[in-house]
Amino acid sequence: MNNEKGDILVTGGLGFIGSHTVVELQNEGFKVVIIDNLSNSKIEVLESIATITGIKPEFVKLDLKDKKKIQDFFNNRKIEGVIHFAASKAVGESVEQPLKYYENNISTLVYLLQEMEKNNTNNFIFSSSCTVYGQADELPITENAPIKPAESPYGNTKQIGEEIIKDTTKVSNLQAIALRYFNPIGAHESVIIGELPLGVPQNLIPFVTQTAAGIREELSVFGDDYPTPDGTAVRDYIHVVDLAKAHIAALKRLIAGNNKKKMEFFNVGTGKGSSVLEVITAFEKVSDRKLNYKIVGRREGDITSAYADTSLANNELGWKSTLTLEDALLSAWNWQEKQK
Ligand code: UD1
Repeated sequence: MNNEKGDILVTGGLGFIGSHTVVELQNEGFKVVIIDNLSNSKIEVLESIATITGIKPEFVKLDLKDKKKIQDFFNNRKIEGVIHFAASKAVGESVEQPLKYYENNISTLVYLLQEMEKNNTNNFIFSSSCTVYGQADELPITENAPIKPAESPYGNTKQIGEEIIKDTTKVSNLQAIALRYFNPIGAHESVIIGELPLGVPQNLIPFVTQTAAGIREELSVFGDDYPTPDGTAVRDYIHVVDLAKAHIAALKRLIAGNNKKKMEFFNVGTGKGSSVLEVITAFEKVSDRKLNYKIVGRREGDITSAYADTSLANNELGWKSTLTLEDALLSAWNWQEKQK
């Protein structure tokens, strides 16, 4: 599909969300080229994608900080659209090393947009985050909720990234969609691809599955004194395959010219909030295991509650999440079990 118009470039296409999105793109007939610097991903994922879809995507090992290499890349091919995942994402590390985050997430975005402009590649999907809303005043969170001052350099790169793209769309042919992800979890049902956290996981679900697998001794539940029904913090956990499919819907909208503005923003979540204790209970049910956990103090920078109003994505993208929290937790657990 669309080959005469060019391939779809997926930056960070060997990462967690990137790899699942490449699978869905290929399932929909798109020809994909992946750029990845392998800083937080493994080259084996390329074969894993091929095992699932029967098609090995083209892969170019490239660091987006290398401006000259990006120029060469675009000079030698036709790209119809770009889905841009490549970025650093560890909140704590971003506080320690802000310049690394501004270089990895902002400089690279600028270089990419410059080359897209030069080469008349005008369709751009950006990985944004619900972190731009901070602790929203109203729940569920709509796309009109105010952007709150970022809690970390990482969060700031998502806010600044959105602004850079929006400013660019005003003065060029670029049209873009920022997808504001809530909490992506789970793994492909084939259990051939999934999340591969480096070192000690910072996010809840990989910590839960590693604890159940005996790799971690105990899960710390960060705070049970939040103003929520059971006192633990509430998030909107979205299955990564549902999230991947939102990218296809967004890309098709841009390619078909169905977008209503040069830049649009969509929440991508399930619309349902789950507390940490609810996640633990659901996990214990699907895995048939008891999870070793204890309640500790709150983690700095955490918010109380965030879940999406997904009606805009439902109505405009024609996309809706279909998989449940239990589906996602079971797939994450099956994936964990396979890592032995
Ligand atoms: C975090 C980032 C967010 C980023 C997202 C990417 C912070 C403050 N926020 O979101 O910017 O976009 O990851 O996936 O880091 N929890 C525990 N014990 C643990 C780990 C987590 O109780 O060992 C709790 C947290 O306090 C939170 C919930 O589980 O209430 C989810 O945490 P996590 O998976 O880290 O995601 P967020 O903090 O929502």
